[in-house]
Amino acid sequence: MSDKIAYSRDGDIAVLTVQNPPVNALSHAVRAGLWAGMDQAESDDGVRAVLIVGEGRAFFAGADITEFGKPPLEPHLPDLINRIEASPLLVVASMHGVSLGGGLEVALGCHYRIAVPSARVGLPEVHLGLIPGAGGTQRLPRLTGVEPALEVMTTGRHVGAKAAHDLGIIDVIKDGDPGKNGLAYAQKLLKDGAGRRAVSEMPPPEPIDWDAAFEATLARSKGQISPAHCVRAVQASVEKPFAEGLKAERQIFYDLMQTDQRQGMIHAFFSERAVSNLPELKGVTPRGLQHIGVIGGGTMGAGIATAALLAGLEVTLLEMSAEAGQAARDRIERNLSGAVKRGKITPNQHDQILTHTLVVVTNYEKLHDVDLVIEAVFEDMSVKKKVFGELDCVCKQGAILASNTSYLDINEIAASTSRPADVLGLHFFSPAHVMKLLEVVVADKTAPDVTATGFALGKMLGKISVRAGVCDGFIGNRILSTYRTAADHMILDGASPYDIDAALEAFGFAMGPFAVADLAGLDIGWAVRKRKRAEGLDPRARDTHYADKLCEDGHFGQKTGKGYYDYAAGPKARVPNPDVLPLIEAERAAQGITPRSFTHEEIVRRYMASMVNEAAKVVGEGIARRPSDVDMTLLFGYGFPRYRGGPLKWADIQGLPELLNDIKGYAETDPYFWHPAPLLEQLVADGRTFDDLNKEG
Ligand code: 3HC
Ligand code: NAI
Repeated sequence: MSDKIAYSRDGDIAVLTVQNPPVNALSHAVRAGLWAGMDQAESDDGVRAVLIVGEGRAFFAGADITEFGKPPLEPHLPDLINRIEASPLLVVASMHGVSLGGGLEVALGCHYRIAVPSARVGLPEVHLGLIPGAGGTQRLPRLTGVEPALEVMTTGRHVGAKAAHDLGIIDVIKDGDPGKNGLAYAQKLLKDGAGRRAVSEMPPPEPIDWDAAFEATLARSKGQISPAHCVRAVQASVEKPFAEGLKAERQIFYDLMQTDQRQGMIHAFFSERAVSNLPELKGVTPRGLQHIGVIGGGTMGAGIATAALLAGLEVTLLEMSAEAGQAARDRIERNLSGAVKRGKITPNQHDQILTHTLVVVTNYEKLHDVDLVIEAVFEDMSVKKKVFGELDCVCKQGAILASNTSYLDINEIAASTSRPADVLGLHFFSPAHVMKLLEVVVADKTAPDVTATGFALGKMLGKISVRAGVCDGFIGNRILSTYRTAADHMILDGASPYDIDAALEAFGFAMGPFAVADLAGLDIGWAVRKRKRAEGLDPRARDTHYADKLCEDGHFGQKTGKGYYDYAAGPKARVPNPDVLPLIEAERAAQGITPRSFTHEEIVRRYMASMVNEAAKVVGEGIARRPSDVDMTLLFGYGFPRYRGGPLKWADIQGLPELLNDIKGYAETDPYFWHPAPLLEQLVADGRTFDDLNKEG
């Protein structure tokens, strides 16, 4: 038998213990071991029941995702589960930790299910671009009815033991050791004369309006197709005999396995876990973190303070005046009230945090014992340097000094202190207590344990932390500036902001770039344009001014009620602002441009090509360590559709030679903007992909 399954006997019960750390994924060796274990139990004299139990953290986390995309090896999971269910012995699953995907499907193939109260079950295959493919879509509806089963599999959510018991998925909940509980339960079932109980032999559930459910699920999934396919698989469970339904499920599962969406989602799954795994930090111990300082309690400072407070850290926030301090405290209180509403903290914790854990001050002396301080004052180098000068004077030795700047040079900030090794960038995204992305910006002199502490803080706050090097805008905002410029060029040449937003939302972005600009505030882009013009634009660069006029008239987007869109009817109204197109037309006329039309396809292609080209420069220059780090930055900070994996995964799937060709074609009319990234040219010349670079680590 495989070394992944331990076979033992306890009286008339055979115990199959799964040992495949860290999460008991159902790899080939595990499947083969379970099959052999069932064979052995059935031929072992005196055995009347089989107990399947997992060692370590989980029952089973599901199929082994690393095997996807490779030729499947026998025994296949659906066959194994059918074999378990068909056994003449009584088979019991004892569940703890998670039972997900194929893991829950194994449990559903067992005749009885017992779980500890902390156990969670689910069918999260949609998050991998798939549907349950080992009987889940056929057995779960027979136990729960169609609608609860569809809710569980189309959301992919984890269901707690109690709710799973209420739904009929788990028979018994019992606290204690899963092995002992399972044995006691199996013994009781034998004593009571309980018989085999196969879910596949239960009658199919009642039908629903399948087409309506398919359409509604498709509409909810924002371009992702696998949730709607769960509906068709469940439909088969109602309309076909079990074996036929299983075949229909398998066919959909295999079809989805061939899709770009499956590739994108699995790339996202592994990249999300790899992103904070930095070889340079192996063996480096982070500094201790208990007390955090925050300078400036505006939009970002208040959000950062909220995130830290929710993670149990003490926070001292410094503002310029008592009045500004009170405004900051009010912002944090609003954020924390939202956390109470969402059930993240209790009203009691809310009060405790505000009275004891948060201190708002106006005097730097109070920051002398903070372990790390994050500056989030106005985006102005001279103001930032003044703040860092004060911090340098008062903060204890070893304290880490961080800036949340969006674009400014962390090396310059670090050099203005006497301790550049303790300085780094910690770039949060708005709202900072909600958005998952954190760029940890490593400056030339940042000490390794300071970088490690940045990552440790990200983990404490539940963020996806990405290592970035110093440049204008780091990874995310630098790439954003480029694709926004590409969008502005298309506007000059004839596209409208509304066409561009529509094309990119259809591509899968949560919001198009102009709706995003309205949300973030048009003043941010205006400030960047003014700074770049002051630094001196290259004469070959195309510049756009129509948005400046909106800002000059006081229209900054949602916060002032008008920007590219008019928000008079509320923040979601998004009625095009009638002043915008005339401003654009005037600018085209002033620049002597005859507008042409753009298809949605061309808009997406140019926008994505500019994003990929800049991303390739960011990787080539070492600002991002790996292509997958860029992908995660765009996914978690910029609303890039997860099912496309990220811009560089998208580029690999499209084909790098074709993309490079397009870029060279665009360069014929604007060689300055469309300068091909050397890394992209190199990859094409070598016949390699971005993902090949990810594999190099
Ligand atoms: N296959 C292979 N590796 C897996 C895995 C799986 N199903 N699930 C987790 N892992 C790996 C992770 O990649 C990670 O590896 P690393 O340490 O090298 O980075 C390690 O196990 C630990 O995982 P996490 O860091 O995510 O640990 P957590 O404790 O935070 O989370 C978890 C554990 C809840 C199990 C989470 O990993 C998870 O959600 N896993 C995916 C579950 C899933 O999607 N199951 C369905 C699979 S598809 C399927 O079953 C098809 C079937 O219907 C035919
Ligand atoms: P904001 O204008 O909302 O807040 C700035 C706060 O800093 C104000 O409350 C102000 O009173 C305070 N402040 C100014 N000078 C100070 C000083 N010397 N000492 C103490 N407090 C001082 O600005 P916002 O949006 O919070 O931005 C702050 C920083 O975060 C900027 O560097 C910005 O580029 C960056 N950032 C902003 C993002 C956003 O979406 N708004 C996203 C990521 C980073």
